[in-house]
Amino acid sequence: MTDNPNKNSKYLCPYCSTQYQTFDDLKTHILKDHKNEPIPAPEGMIAMTINGGSYSLRAEPELTLYDLIHDRLGLIGSKQFCDRGACGSCTVIMEGRAILSCMALAVECDGKQIETIEGIAEAEHPLIESYAKHHAMQCGYCTPGFVVTAKALIDKNPAPADNEIREALAGNLCRCGTYPQHPVAILEAAVEKRKFPEGKKRSLKPTEDADKLSFEAVKQDALDKLKGGE
Ligand code: FES
Ligand code: FES
Repeated sequence: MTDNPNKNSKYLCPYCSTQYQTFDDLKTHILKDHKNEPIPAPEGMIAMTINGGSYSLRAEPELTLYDLIHDRLGLIGSKQFCDRGACGSCTVIMEGRAILSCMALAVECDGKQIETIEGIAEAEHPLIESYAKHHAMQCGYCTPGFVVTAKALIDKNPAPADNEIREALAGNLCRCGTYPQHPVAILEAAVEKRKFPEGKKRSLKPTEDADKLSFEAVKQDALDKLKGGE
């Protein structure tokens, strides 16, 4: 029986994981077999694009995507309501699909494109104003998740039917009964998006002049919540 040559190995090749007993052996191997390959990323580092910006971050194996974007990057629009995949308040878009950031490990998102409520608000997506206009929210906890889910739906299906909207929002919970207003707001935002695909600065009009003052206050409160306030 021959001895395992790697029994007491200490040096692991970062390219191919072959083990070597001395640093010089490892160096010779790398210069011979991997000379022209790019330097591998340090262990534990991941890269992702969030709202169009490039990030390179250290991520421990147990770190969730939610913890990364909310706690480490300060993107506090997504909320962790239930922390068990049951409410949708932590929803973000990854590669065009709405996902629950509390259920995704950050390391699984290496190399992916992520979009959060901050990016959607920054781009002045018509959903932001139509949600405010139609009072499709009361709090800033569940609402960002609804809007992010709706954005993913409209991106994929620019003219969703009422039942498709309800199906898409099935995983988003609101405890105060705003449900009937969501399809109304989303249908209007979808029409706006089709009319102005590149975006257009719009402003909501109060229904009556007499309502203007309180309307402006309500609108500001709604916009703050939509962008992640509480
Ligand atoms: S906090 Fe992620 S689904 Fe509720
Ligand atoms: S509006 Fe947020 S829980 Fe109902």
